[in-house]
Amino acid sequence: MRNFVTIEGCEGVGKTYQTKLLKQYCLEKGLDVVFTREPGGSDIAEQIRRIILDADNKDMDDLCEAFLYAASRIQHLKDIVKPALAQGKTVICDRYVDSSYVYQGLGRGLGLDKIVRLNEIAVGEYMPEFTIFLDLSPENAFKRKGGADQSDRIEAVGYDFHLKVYNGYKRLIAENPDRFEVIDASGTKEQTQAKLREVLVRRGVLK
Ligand SMILES: Nc1ncnc2c1ncn2[C@@H]1O[C@H](COP(=O)(O)OP(=O)(O)OP(=O)(O)O)[C@@H](O)[C@H]1O
Ligand SMILES: [Mg+2]
Repeated sequence: MRNFVTIEGCEGVGKTYQTKLLKQYCLEKGLDVVFTREPGGSDIAEQIRRIILDADNKDMDDLCEAFLYAASRIQHLKDIVKPALAQGKTVICDRYVDSSYVYQGLGRGLGLDKIVRLNEIAVGEYMPEFTIFLDLSPENAFKRKGGADQSDRIEAVGYDFHLKVYNGYKRLIAENPDRFEVIDASGTKEQTQAKLREVLVRRGVLK
């Protein structure tokens, strides 16, 4: 879908931080770009997010988790993404379907096919025009942020899981080279921001 950009990467690589900087930049430049995030991003979707991430829900079935992410995505599309795109705005979303592919499909091991099919129902034609992957291994990301957040049910899963997620992203990138823009996120916040803007300018999203 034109003007729909997603940002992906492992825990703590800087997706939220970089999106915040971009938002400031767009405000200063008067660019009408909508910034949002998944899971959540709108009232009902945020309620679903709380259930998914609640560390007390340790007995949640993996497939239930996959459906909750898809459910939250449907609501977020309806409330935020579709209206903004219909008004001709650009939408930049912190995490989207690729997170489900790699976390539930490959990390949890439900299988990529199953999660792709589930999300086809959830998103329909609303696939991103392109996806920015902030590339930093979970080992380096956790080192940088000083360990995993144990109050976050997904982040608290062990290192092996996050390595599967990282390798899962690498597989998606290899299979969809035209959709992904890979950015090295191992440098400073400013260096990553500069690379991000360069990609967005080249792709015609920013001036
Ligand atoms: N390039 C960087 N150098 C040093 N620290 C960074 C860098 N980028 C982000 N950080 C810090 O790392 C932490 C995690 O960043 P952030 O919350 O943006 O990651 P995220 O990708 O959104 O993570 P999550 O997947 O958990 O939402 C923050 O404290 C942030 O300030
Ligand atoms: Mg974040």
